[in-house]
Amino acid sequence: MSEKIKKATRHTNQNEGLIFEKSSPGKRAFELPPLDVPAVDPAKTLGDAYRRGGVDGFPEVSEIEVIRHFTRLSTWNFAIDLGMYPLGSCTMKYNPRVNEFVARLDGIATEHPYQPQDLSQGCLKVLQLLEKCLLEITGMDAITLQPAAGAQGELTGLLLIRAHHEKNGNPRKKVLIPDSAHGTNPATAVIAGYDVENIKSNADGQVDLEHLREQVTEDVAALMLTNPSTLGIFEQQVPQIAEILHAKGALLYMDGANMNALTGVTRPGDLGVDVMHLNLHKTFSTPHGGGGPGAGPVAMKKVLEPYLPTTRVCWEFWRAGAGAGVHFGVRAGGAAGDGRRGGERKLHPQGA
Ligand SMILES: Cc1ncc(COP(=O)(O)O)c(C=O)c1O
Repeated sequence: MSEKIKKATRHTNQNEGLIFEKSSPGKRAFELPPLDVPAVDPAKTLGDAYRRGGVDGFPEVSEIEVIRHFTRLSTWNFAIDLGMYPLGSCTMKYNPRVNEFVARLDGIATEHPYQPQDLSQGCLKVLQLLEKCLLEITGMDAITLQPAAGAQGELTGLLLIRAHHEKNGNPRKKVLIPDSAHGTNPATAVIAGYDVENIKSNADGQVDLEHLREQVTEDVAALMLTNPSTLGIFEQQVPQIAEILHAKGALLYMDGANMNALTGVTRPGDLGVDVMHLNLHKTFSTPHGGGGPGAGPVAMKKVLEPYLPTTRVCWEFWRAGAGAGVHFGVRAGGAAGDGRRGGERKLHPQGA
């Protein structure tokens, strides 16, 4: 018996057509109430130039068609209650429901990117605090929150490295990538204009230091190290790797998308890493919003700070008469500077 009872589908039908396909002339989804003011001629009141006879290409549909169409579409939204977000090395991810609640709080969900700074003080304060916390966690000197995903952070990081080498007269040619790296690393290096050279792992899944020594020349711009690696192994020789690279003027990039394993235990900045990204949507469980946006901040040592993307979050302490406080803002330009605005004010860079 049970074999005969089969569901036609596991979910509301997702073969919803376009609303334009339901359109036919004369159908309408609304009925206006009778006029309770004297009728006027719009051509006379507004001027004929501002009057439109109709809207071209607009679907003509009934009320029930509008409601059903958009309600059906709304059931397609993916949510953490329906399944996991399969992005990246997924074992590292945890997206608690409570974070979605926080993201929806008034003052966060309703903010607009073009809102004046004076009306965005809460958000700017959160961003500045986040920068400060991430700098402490990573042991780095400067950070940008702008990259919207891990891979975008990688590209930002490699472009910082390229800018640094260019400033020194030569962008260099190669990026070294251990065979245990995440797949986005070589792709990023190529997009940043570098040739990729593979570095072998030894029997313990660690970078083969001898092989590395042979490969590092003054043509090498950087090495990109995923740590813990895609094999799930913590690379224990980071200081030695950094030393080998630095001796030839190359830099060490760390793919910090798997930072869960290191957070609170050790800091890449203390180990010799020059620049890294974090995947906040993995390690720090920020909500994915329908599988959507990530956050790939890039943290770096002072040597790369001059090349940071603008605009940066800044804060200033002010004192005027008996009052005092902190004002947050954003500022174009890479380096710190003064910004006086009434009373005693001094702009501080991120992390300060
Ligand atoms: C180790 C590692 N690096 C880089 C990335 C790329 O991050 P994204 O998917 O946010 O671009 C991922 C993805 O999760 C990853 O696991």
